[in-house]
Amino acid sequence: MITIAIAKGRMQDDALALLARAGVCFGSSSLRCLSSSDESGEHTAIFVKPADVPVYVEYGIADCGIVGRDILLESEADLLLPLDLGIAQCRLVVAGRADGAQNRGMLRVATKYPVLTSDYFGKRGTPVEIIRLSGSVELAPALGLADVIVDLVETGRTLRENGLSVIDVITESSGRFVVNRASYQLKAKPITQLLNALNQAVSGVPA
Ligand code: PRP
Repeated sequence: MITIAIAKGRMQDDALALLARAGVCFGSSSLRCLSSSDESGEHTAIFVKPADVPVYVEYGIADCGIVGRDILLESEADLLLPLDLGIAQCRLVVAGRADGAQNRGMLRVATKYPVLTSDYFGKRGTPVEIIRLSGSVELAPALGLADVIVDLVETGRTLRENGLSVIDVITESSGRFVVNRASYQLKAKPITQLLNALNQAVSGVPA
């Protein structure tokens, strides 16, 4: 039995579609369904918040996971990262008011990514106050909570609708398949099979 932790939200549907193309079908998932077994009974999916996927996989509760590179960089978890799934492609950016509102004093940055934000501004020698939020980060500049934000951009619609534009791209992100180090040894055969099937699905080869 292989347990796969799947990030809920933006990449969930694409992750399930990709797994189905790799021959692992969990059927349709509802928002409230937190776990599911596939038709073969050989795989279980658990659906958790994106930031929790590296935790479940690093602790071995899940053997594998599907989650964004942004989350993996932020978590600094010790995992194997064998495959870029090419789903949920987006960018982590610094964004600010399109009207170029100036800050007074130390730059305040609202973000769900304090580690990556601290790293980015630290490398540039820019002292910043990091304001950690859990979501709807784009509201912060308009409400005067922060001067700029560090957040994900996929279509750019949320930025536009909140009067923000990209100042700099920090890094690119997409969905990654990750594996617990011990599981990779102990369950080498089924995990390698799954990895190969996913690799073929990503390349467009039918299962
Ligand atoms: C993400 C991200 C942006 C938005 C970007 O939020 O944090 O807010 O999507 O997408 P877009 O460029 O296509 O508009 P998510 O939907 O994950 O929810 P959150 O705001 O609660 O984090």
